[in-house]
Amino acid sequence: MFKNQWKVLSVAMFVMVLVVCSSTAALAEQAVLTVADCVKCHSEQPAQIEAGGAAHKTEIDCQACHEGHRPSVANNIPECSNCHEGSAHYEVENCLGCHNPHQPLDVRLEGEHKQVCVSCHAGPEQQMVASPSQHATFACNFCHADKHGSIPQCIDCHEPHSESMTAADCSTCHQAHKPLELTYPANTASLLCASCHDSAFETLSASKAKHSQIACATCHTTKHKTVPQCADCHGVPHAQAMHERFPKCSDCHNIAHDLNNWPTKKN
Ligand code: HEC
Ligand code: HEC
Ligand code: HEC
Ligand code: HEC
Ligand code: HEC
Ligand code: HEC
Ligand code: HEC
Ligand code: HEC
Ligand code: HEC
Ligand code: HEC
Ligand code: HEC
Ligand code: HEC
Repeated sequence: MFKNQWKVLSVAMFVMVLVVCSSTAALAEQAVLTVADCVKCHSEQPAQIEAGGAAHKTEIDCQACHEGHRPSVANNIPECSNCHEGSAHYEVENCLGCHNPHQPLDVRLEGEHKQVCVSCHAGPEQQMVASPSQHATFACNFCHADKHGSIPQCIDCHEPHSESMTAADCSTCHQAHKPLELTYPANTASLLCASCHDSAFETLSASKAKHSQIACATCHTTKHKTVPQCADCHGVPHAQAMHERFPKCSDCHNIAHDLNNWPTKKN
C-alpha cells in the first residue's frame, strides 16, 4: 500500500513537473518582449531614437530604460538619475522639460532658464555679476533662444549707432555679458567713434596739423572716456621757463583736435 502510494505520488509529481515546465515555456513564449518587438506597436519613439537618439541609441536600447511592460509591470518609465549622477547638471529640476529621452541632444528651451545654463557655463554669469547691466536681468535664453548653442546678433534687438556701422562692429566695443564695460583695441577705426562724435571727428579731419593723421583710439586708449595728457606723448617740449609762464599747452596750441599750426602761421 505504502509502495503504491509512493508510485501514485511520483506519477503525480511527474505530471506536475511536466505541466509546470510546459506552462512556463508557453508563458515565456508569450511574454518575453525583445527590442525588435517595440516597433510593432510603437512607431514614434523608435523613429525618434533612430533620427536623434545619440548615446541613447548607440550605448543603450529601449529595454535598458523600459524594463518590463504593462500589464505585468505597472511603471516602466525610468528616472534619469538611474544612470546620470555626480554632476551639478544632474541636480537640476525637470529634466524632461528640456530633454526628450528619445532625442536627448535636441534640447528644447521653453520657459526661462538661468541656473541650468550656469551649471555648465559659469563664465557668462560671473561677467554679469562683476559688471551689472540690464542684460544681467534677462534669462540666458531670452537671447540664446530656440536651440541650444544659438548666438544672437546685437542688431536683432538694437539699432546700430550709425548707418555705416555693421553687426560685426559691435564687438569692437561691447561684449554681450558686460555691455556697459566699453573697451576697444588700438586699431579701432575712427569712423566708429564718429557715429556719436561727429563734431570731434570733423574738427580733427579738417585740421592740417599732424594730429589729424592719428586715430581717435591712439590718444583715447582702451577704455571709453579716457582723456590723455599732452605730456603722455610729448613730455616737456619747451624751455622750462616758458612752461612756468604759460602752464597750459592750450594757451598757445588751442585744442588737441585743432592745434594752432604755428609753422604755417609764421609763413
Ligand atoms: C503588442 C503591442 C506592444 C508591444 C510589442 C510593445 N508595446 Fe509598449 N505599449 C503598448 C500599449 C497598447 C501601450 C499603452 C498601454 C496603456 O496605456 O495602458 C504601451 C505602453 C508603453 C509605454 C508607456 C507606459 C506608461 O506607463 O505610460 C512604454 C514605455 C512602452 N509601451 C514601451 C515599450 C517597449 C520598450 C517595447 C519593446 C520592448 C514595447 N513597449 C512593446 C503596446 C505594445
Ligand atoms: C534613456 C532612456 C530611454 C530610452 C533608451 C527609451 N526611452 Fe522611451 N521613454 C523614456 C522616458 C523617460 C519616457 C517618459 C517620457 C515623458 O514622460 O515625457 C519614455 C516614454 C516612452 C513611451 C511612452 C510615451 C508616452 O507618450 O507616454 C514609449 C511608448 C516609449 N518611451 C517607447 C520607447 C521605445 C520603443 C524605445 C526604444 C526605441 C525607447 N522608448 C527608448 C526613456 C527612454
Ligand atoms: C538606462 C540608463 C540611462 C537612463 C535611464 C538615462 N540615460 Fe542618458 N545616457 C545614458 C548613457 C549610457 C549615456 C552615454 C554616457 C553618458 O553621457 O553618461 C547617456 C547620455 C545622455 C545624454 C548625452 C547624449 C550624447 O550622445 O552625448 C543626454 C543628454 C542624456 N543622456 C539625458 C538623459 C535624460 C534627460 C534622461 C532621463 C529622461 C536619461 N538620460 C536617462 C544612459 C541613460
Ligand atoms: C534648461 C534645460 C535643461 C534641463 C532642465 C536639463 N538639461 Fe541636461 N542638458 C541641457 C543642455 C543645453 C545640454 C547640453 C547639450 C549639448 O551638449 O549639446 C544638456 C546636456 C545633458 C547631458 C549630456 C552632457 C553632460 O554633461 O553629461 C546629460 C546626460 C543631461 N543633460 C542630463 C540631464 C538630466 C539628468 C537632467 C535633470 C536632472 C537635465 N539634463 C536637465 C539642458 C537641460
Ligand atoms: C550640460 C551642460 C550644458 C548645459 C546645461 C548648457 N550648455 Fe551650452 N554648451 C555646452 C557644451 C558642451 C557646448 C559646446 C562646446 C562649447 O562650445 O563650449 C555648449 C555650447 C553653447 C553655446 C555656443 C558656444 C559657442 O562658442 O558657439 C552657447 C551660446 C550656449 N551653449 C548657451 C547655453 C545656454 C543659454 C544654456 C541654458 C539654456 C546652456 N548653454 C546650457 C554645455 C551645456
Ligand atoms: C542680451 C543677450 C544675452 C544674454 C542675456 C546672454 N547672452 Fe550669452 N551671448 C550673447 C551674445 C550676443 C554672444 C556672442 C559673444 C558676444 O557678443 O559677446 C554670447 C555668447 C555666449 C557664449 C559663447 C561665448 C562665451 O562667452 O563663452 C555662451 C556660452 C553664452 N553666451 C552663454 C550665456 C549664458 C549662460 C547666459 C546667462 C547666464 C547668457 N549667455 C546670457 C548674448 C546674450
Ligand atoms: C534678444 C534681444 C537682445 C540682444 C540680442 C541684445 N540686447 Fe542689448 N538689450 C536688450 C534689452 C531689452 C535691453 C534693455 C534696454 C532696452 O530696452 O534697450 C538691452 C540693453 C542694452 C544696453 C544698455 C544696458 C544698460 O544696463 O543700460 C547695451 C549697452 C546693450 N543692450 C548692448 C547690446 C549689445 C552690444 C548686444 C550684442 C552683443 C546686445 N545688446 C544684444 C536686448 C538685447
Ligand atoms: C566704437 C565703439 C562702439 C561700437 C563699435 C558700438 N558701440 Fe554701442 N555704445 C558705445 C558707447 C561708448 C556707448 C555708451 C554711450 C553712452 O554713454 O551714452 C554705447 C551704447 C550702446 C547702447 C546703449 C545706449 C543706447 O544707445 O541705447 C546700445 C544698445 C549699444 N551701444 C548697441 C550697440 C550695437 C548694437 C552696436 C553694433 C551695431 C554697437 N553698440 C557698436 C560704443 C560703441
Ligand atoms: C554710442 C555713442 C558713442 C560712441 C560710439 C562713442 N562715444 Fe565717446 N562718448 C559718448 C557719450 C554719450 C559721451 C559723454 C558725452 C558728454 O559727457 O558730453 C562720450 C564721451 C567721450 C569722451 C569724453 C570724456 C570726457 O571726460 O569728456 C571721449 C574722450 C570719448 N567719448 C571718446 C570716444 C572714442 C575714442 C570713441 C571711439 C572708440 C567713442 N568715444 C565712441 C558716446 C559715444
Ligand atoms: C597719443 C600721443 C599724443 C598726445 C596725447 C598728444 N600728441 Fe601731439 N602729437 C603726437 C604725434 C604722434 C605728433 C606728430 C609728430 C610728428 O609727426 O613729428 C604730434 C604732433 C604735435 C604737434 C605738432 C603739430 C604739427 O602739425 O606739426 C603739436 C603742436 C602737438 N602735437 C601738441 C600737442 C598738444 C598740445 C597735446 C595735448 C593737448 C598733444 N599734442 C597730445 C602725439 C600726441
Ligand atoms: C592726438 C590725440 C588725440 C586724438 C587723435 C583725438 N583726441 Fe580727442 N581729445 C584729446 C585730448 C588731449 C582731449 C582733451 C581736450 C583737449 O586738450 O583738447 C580730447 C578731448 C576729446 C573729447 C572731449 C571734448 C570734446 O571735444 O568733446 C572727445 C569727445 C574726444 N576727444 C573724442 C575724440 C574722437 C572721436 C577722436 C577721433 C575722431 C579724437 N578725440 C581724437 C586728444 C586726442
Ligand atoms: C607760449 C606758447 C606755447 C606753449 C604754452 C606751448 N607751446 Fe608748444 N609750441 C609753441 C610754438 C610757437 C611752437 C612752434 C615752434 C616751432 O615751430 O619751432 C610749438 C611747437 C610744439 C610742438 C612741435 C614741436 C616740433 O618739433 O614740431 C609740440 C609737440 C609742442 N609744441 C607741444 C607743446 C606741449 C605739449 C605744450 C604744453 C606742455 C606746449 N607745447 C606749450 C608754443 C607753445
